[in-house]
Amino acid sequence: MIKVGIIGCGYWGPKLIRNFYEIPQSEISIISDLSRERLNTIAQLYGSIATTQDYQQLLDSDVEAVCIATPIRTHYKLVKEALLAGKHVLVEKPLAASTEEALELCILADNLGLTLMVGHTFEYNPAVEKLRSIIQSGELGEIFYIDAARLNLGLFQKDINVLWDLAPHDFSIISFLLDGAEPDFITARGASHIIPNIYDVVFSEAYFPNNVLVNVHVSWLDPCKVRRVTVVGSQKMAVFNDVAEAEKIRIYDKKVTIPQETGTGEFINFTPSYFTGDITIPRIPAAEPLKIECQHFLDCIATGNVPRSSGWVGLKIVRMLEAADRACKAQPVYTHTVTQYRPTLVANGNTGA
Ligand SMILES: NC(=O)c1ccc[n+]([C@@H]2O[C@H](COP(=O)([O-])OP(=O)(O)OC[C@H]3O[C@@H](n4cnc5c(N)ncnc54)[C@H](O)[C@@H]3O)[C@@H](O)[C@H]2O)c1
Repeated sequence: MIKVGIIGCGYWGPKLIRNFYEIPQSEISIISDLSRERLNTIAQLYGSIATTQDYQQLLDSDVEAVCIATPIRTHYKLVKEALLAGKHVLVEKPLAASTEEALELCILADNLGLTLMVGHTFEYNPAVEKLRSIIQSGELGEIFYIDAARLNLGLFQKDINVLWDLAPHDFSIISFLLDGAEPDFITARGASHIIPNIYDVVFSEAYFPNNVLVNVHVSWLDPCKVRRVTVVGSQKMAVFNDVAEAEKIRIYDKKVTIPQETGTGEFINFTPSYFTGDITIPRIPAAEPLKIECQHFLDCIATGNVPRSSGWVGLKIVRMLEAADRACKAQPVYTHTVTQYRPTLVANGNTGA
């Protein structure tokens, strides 16, 4: 039985509370939130659990593990203090608000011999695991590109942009699908339409090893709720549609090949051949990803194993987010009209204009 404390019970925290409450190997002994109102709501549901508005009381208690579900800007301070208090930590995604902060937390956890895990929920999603095993089996052939879209109308955040809010999911899914790979290069474009200086839509492109081109589109300003990852391979294509009630993964036996060229020079016969076969829908075991994640955290504490979404994995995702965010802020300007063009003449060493 591992004693757990939870800091933050806004939107996501109560889901962690429910899961740790239900898992037999854990006992939630204390919950903290700045809001007395939130704590009262939780107390009505779980009367036996102590509550406090001062997280320091939680850190001073005998809990072995702390779960942090507070806004991103608070992660670094809370994780650091929890580790220094000797607690194992599960922190919600993303690990921290910068690479520098994330790296420090990883090193600190390692030096103290404590488990540091990041809540990359999708890495524990049976559908994502299935997609990864399909890719690894070679069924899709060589992976050409991956396209991810996470769109909806809202929920707008005031202190972080849509990239930091939603893209941790897609970057973690994609890196997980590609066996933990990191991109060689990331570029991105973002725009803020509703809240000044807070991007509500971001288009990011990443170039992963083995020429895998990745596109991540995240938006709080879209008419449709979309949570989709498309993987296009040389032999087959697969779509993970998380909005679908059932049949979350479809494998399309579709491909394009170029038959042996005939002819020469201008007369090369270039006719692509399109193949369309069956669509298969693999069975996905029914299990709540967050429950698997919480159980994994407890197992890692008990065994000393490194979590699947360890702090170091979290650091990779923060690096990707930071690179994409920087790319958004350094947007190259496209000149719509050429207003003036005066060639520079160089004659006899003199520059004329
Ligand atoms: N894995 C997922 O799918 C998923 C989904 C949503 C949110 N999240 C993550 O969960 C975290 C929280 O997001 P949310 O949507 O629940 O935010 P929220 O604003 O709804 O809740 C945050 C809560 O933390 C509390 N808090 C802030 N500072 C505190 C402190 N020092 N001590 C105690 N309580 C404090 C606030 O009072 C608030 O109740 C974020 O990191 C977010 O990225 C993850």
